[in-house]
Amino acid sequence: MTVQKKIVILPGDGIGPEIVRVAVRALNDCAAEFGHNFEFAEYPFGGCAIDSAGTPLPVETLGACRAADAILLGAVGGPKWDAQPIGKRPESGLLALRKELGLYINLRPIDLRASLRSLSPLTADRARDVHIDIIRELAGDIYFGEHRIVADASGERATDEAVYTTGEVERIAKYAFARAEARTGRLASIDKANVLSTSQLWRRTVTRLAADHPGVKLEHLYVDNAAMQLVLAPAQFDVILTSNMFGDILSDLGAALVGSIGLIPSMSCGPGPSLYEPIHGSAPSLAGKDIASPVGTILSASMMLRESFGLKQEAEWIESAVDRLFLQGIRTADIAEPGTNAVRCSEFGERLHAEMLETVERHAQDV
Ligand code: IPM
Ligand code: MG
Repeated sequence: MTVQKKIVILPGDGIGPEIVRVAVRALNDCAAEFGHNFEFAEYPFGGCAIDSAGTPLPVETLGACRAADAILLGAVGGPKWDAQPIGKRPESGLLALRKELGLYINLRPIDLRASLRSLSPLTADRARDVHIDIIRELAGDIYFGEHRIVADASGERATDEAVYTTGEVERIAKYAFARAEARTGRLASIDKANVLSTSQLWRRTVTRLAADHPGVKLEHLYVDNAAMQLVLAPAQFDVILTSNMFGDILSDLGAALVGSIGLIPSMSCGPGPSLYEPIHGSAPSLAGKDIASPVGTILSASMMLRESFGLKQEAEWIESAVDRLFLQGIRTADIAEPGTNAVRCSEFGERLHAEMLETVERHAQDV
């Protein structure tokens, strides 16, 4: 099967352009090898779009995203725009994009790769089985309520409103139950129902839906306990379902458990095209130095191939080559073993390209 797809590329800010370049090359390699036609179109987004167009999400960028088959994003934000108020920052472009495309599902696979086992800060027994799918609700919560700062007699008063509706909880919970059913049947829903109304609605709704999924073993955890459990006994988790804010925090924690935040891809889905992006930020301190890890973006690209285009073999081609590089010690600075030389971002891309082509040659010889 060969496919024809339009892929919108949003490099964004900071390390975004460097890491996206490497991932696009891997996609191009897949197209060349398997006979697919991937049409790439790059658009300004984030801080660079504020500079060039006065807004982090220009209408042309949004229009192109709507018409795409899938979107690959690097990262947005940076010190240059830090003084901007909430609604005028690069990050508000990302939130607007998620909202406009109706991307309410965010899947963040936290997998400890066999090739990187020694990197986990967990003791060896605890690090044995970390394969957790964090499902983060992405279109509601405190991210999208009203944010306000008003001056009063005593100084300033800031408010951030958190909102969830039954429908919003139901749709993400349904996705999580289905995901749990397709895996080991264990689902942990994480909230703060001892304090927050949104969490009480969340817990009630998830509990009600559980009746339709008798094959799923559902448990509820408070987010503070969940953070501790993730560090103490991560193997107890299979699929985690949580709200937008808690998912943001717990996914960084999860990334640290498996070696580096530079390694984790993500997929955001809704009714239209899906968006793929690494879970890390724009890392301004690394930008322009060619030292960031492109792996989270590469794995986001392979996730795109598998999930949006149904190209499983192509995704595995990329992922297995990444693992072989890791095993050979070809690693960027964030995951290099002490005393070994780290490769640069672009060099990782070169090595990946060579490694992918080499497997093709080996296969060709085997046949
Ligand atoms: C993430 C990021 C974003 C978020 C920021 C950049 C707005 O931290 O995708 O995890 O908080 O969702
Ligand atoms: Mg985050």
